[in-house]
Amino acid sequence: MTRTPRAVVLAIASLVAVLTLGGCTNGVTTGVSGDPAHAKIGLLLPDSVTARYESADRPYFEQRIAELCGGCEVLYANADGDAAKQQQQAESMLTQGVRVLVLDPFDGVAAASIVGLAKARGVPVIAYDRLIASPDLAYYISFDNELVGRLQAQALVDRLSELGVAPGDGGILMVNGSPTDNNASQFKKGAHEVIDASGYEVLAEFDTPGWDPGKAQDWVSGQITRFGSRIVGVYAANDPTAGGAIASLKAAGVSPLPPVTGQDAELAGLQRILTGDQYMTVYKALRPEAFQAAELAVDLANGRMPEGKVQVDVGDAAIPSFLLEPLAVTRGEIRSIVIADGFFTVKQLCTSDYAAACREAGVA
Ligand code: BGC
Repeated sequence: MTRTPRAVVLAIASLVAVLTLGGCTNGVTTGVSGDPAHAKIGLLLPDSVTARYESADRPYFEQRIAELCGGCEVLYANADGDAAKQQQQAESMLTQGVRVLVLDPFDGVAAASIVGLAKARGVPVIAYDRLIASPDLAYYISFDNELVGRLQAQALVDRLSELGVAPGDGGILMVNGSPTDNNASQFKKGAHEVIDASGYEVLAEFDTPGWDPGKAQDWVSGQITRFGSRIVGVYAANDPTAGGAIASLKAAGVSPLPPVTGQDAELAGLQRILTGDQYMTVYKALRPEAFQAAELAVDLANGRMPEGKVQVDVGDAAIPSFLLEPLAVTRGEIRSIVIADGFFTVKQLCTSDYAAACREAGVA
């Protein structure tokens, strides 16, 4: 069978081996001249259908760069779910003389060509949150993404058994992430490990193009027509796709709603958890993720290459990496995890529509 690029990215995902070693600089050298105290640093993020990029990743990254390097300038672009657009944005940043690129790829295979172009100009690339299928990466910063999938699926099957739903009573719909995102295949792998061992059947599953909530919603509507009350739970890979799934279930008059998972602790996702529409989300501390990327970008701009905490293999190359821990959040953990970490304030979360639910959940 001929290997498609998609098969290749999946192969990379399954080959990714994390070794608890420090130490490799991966032979990348910074070849851009000029004053590092006035370096331009490029930040490229993948989509605008997910709140985190504009509300957390970008501001945290800019904040940390400003703290570490007052004279540095961050060039920012969002690809809006378009790999060709991201390629152009990266090329334009290289033309403008960026010293480092921090790249969260819309398409982890296509973005290898950006890494190649950058390398030719001596510009190191940090893969931010999503891995890129290139051995020339300077660093990779993300979370333990298979663990994200396991946490989501474990919460779902635990909830089903708590509700007294037996495996024979029905099955689960899986709304996975984008087929161009290496993280999505890792979330799916982790989730399958748990669901496949649980006895609950997967009725059907869907890789949502571009993580588009509207496409998730349309797909779930079709499955409700197909499976009706046999749907006892929905694995949704993040909060926007969970929102899409919940909208279809409500539109079809499904009541009570089956438990639905999510990820990102988006404001809308947390508010759905408070009202009981969504069962859980996964909290990923985005401040340390963005800060780590900013710190490494400033290091690279100054020709420094600190060791990674772990190594992640891309083909034969061991990429120095930093992988943070995700945490499962149901209603009972909103206060102790999300609010306690300062991700949102009680005031932001508990607006008048949610005041009663917040009191009930012990959040306010
Ligand atoms: C990120 C998630 C995000 C999704 C959609 C994934 O790569 O890890 O946090 O919800 O992309 O943008």
